[in-house]
Amino acid sequence: MLVDRLFSLQGQVALVTGAARGLGLEMARALASAGATMLLSGRDAVKLETAAARIGDEGGSAVALPFDLADSEETVRALARIQRDHGRLDILIANAGIRDRTGFAALTRHSFARLLATNLIGTTDLAQRAARMMAEAGRDGRIIIIGSMISSLAAAGDPAYLASKAGLTGMVRALAAEHGRNRITVNDIAPGSFATEFNAALAADDAATAMVRERTVLERWGTPEEIAAAALFLASPGAAYVTGHRLVVDGGMSVKA
Ligand SMILES: NC(=O)c1ccc[n+]([C@@H]2O[C@H](COP(=O)([O-])OP(=O)(O)OC[C@H]3O[C@@H](n4cnc5c(N)ncnc54)[C@H](OP(=O)(O)O)[C@@H]3O)[C@@H](O)[C@H]2O)c1
Repeated sequence: MLVDRLFSLQGQVALVTGAARGLGLEMARALASAGATMLLSGRDAVKLETAAARIGDEGGSAVALPFDLADSEETVRALARIQRDHGRLDILIANAGIRDRTGFAALTRHSFARLLATNLIGTTDLAQRAARMMAEAGRDGRIIIIGSMISSLAAAGDPAYLASKAGLTGMVRALAAEHGRNRITVNDIAPGSFATEFNAALAADDAATAMVRERTVLERWGTPEEIAAAALFLASPGAAYVTGHRLVVDGGMSVKA
C-alpha cells in the first residue's frame, strides 16, 4: 500500500535521546508503532527500562540504551554498542535537552558551558557520529534534532537555552549540507509550548495556561503526540526530499499577530 511505502519504518533501527518521558517517549512510541526497533536513551536506566517495557506492551520493540550525552566517551560506546547489537542505525532523534532559566545578570560561564555540553555540544557530537555511521552503511538516514520555537523570539530570562537551541538550527543546516550526497536528511523540529512532565507545574497553573491560550493561534498547549506526528513524518521514507528544514510545531505561537 502507498501509505506503507511512504510511512512504514519496518526493519529500521532508531535511537531517541531523552526517551524516558515527555516528547522523547511519545516520539519513540510513534516510531515503534510504525515498525522501527527503538533504542531509548537517557541517563536513568530504570526509567528507560520502564519506557521500553511500555512500548513492548503496546506491540513495539524497544531496548534501553542509557548514556550521558554530555560525555563523549559514553556517546562513542553507545554507538559502538548499536553497531555491535543491531548492525545499523537508520534514524536518530536527538531530543534530550536541559533548561536553566537564569537571566543574563546571573548567568555564569560555568553554568552556560554546562548547558551547552548537553544541548549543543553533546547533541552535535552525537549527530555527527551518527551521520558518519549512516554514511558508512550507505543507506538512507534520518537525523531529527529537537530545538525550540522560543529560540527565534526575544525572550528574557533564558539566554543559555535560547543560544543552545539557536545553535542547533545552524548545526542542522551545516550537517544537512555535508550529508545530502549520502542520502541522509537532517532536520530540526521547533516545538512551542507542550504540556509534558517538564512543564507540569506550568500546565497546572491557571495564569500560565491563560498566557499560552492568549499567545497561540490554537489557544491551547500542544500535546506530545503532536510532536510525535511531526517526527514520524521526518523519519519516514516519505520525507526523503526534506532536509535542512526547521519544522515549527507551535499552535501558531510564532506567527500570532
Ligand atoms: N516541552 C516543551 O514545551 C518543549 C518546548 C520546546 C522544546 N522542547 C525540547 O524538547 C525536548 C524534550 O522536552 P521535554 O519537555 O520532553 O523534556 P524532559 O521531560 O525534561 O526530557 C528531557 C530528557 O532529556 C534527558 N536528558 C537530559 N540531559 C541528558 C543527558 N546529558 N544525556 C542524556 N539524556 C539527557 C532526560 O532524561 P534523564 O534526566 O533521565 O537523563 C529527559 O528524559 C528538550 O530538548 C526540550 O528542550 C520542549
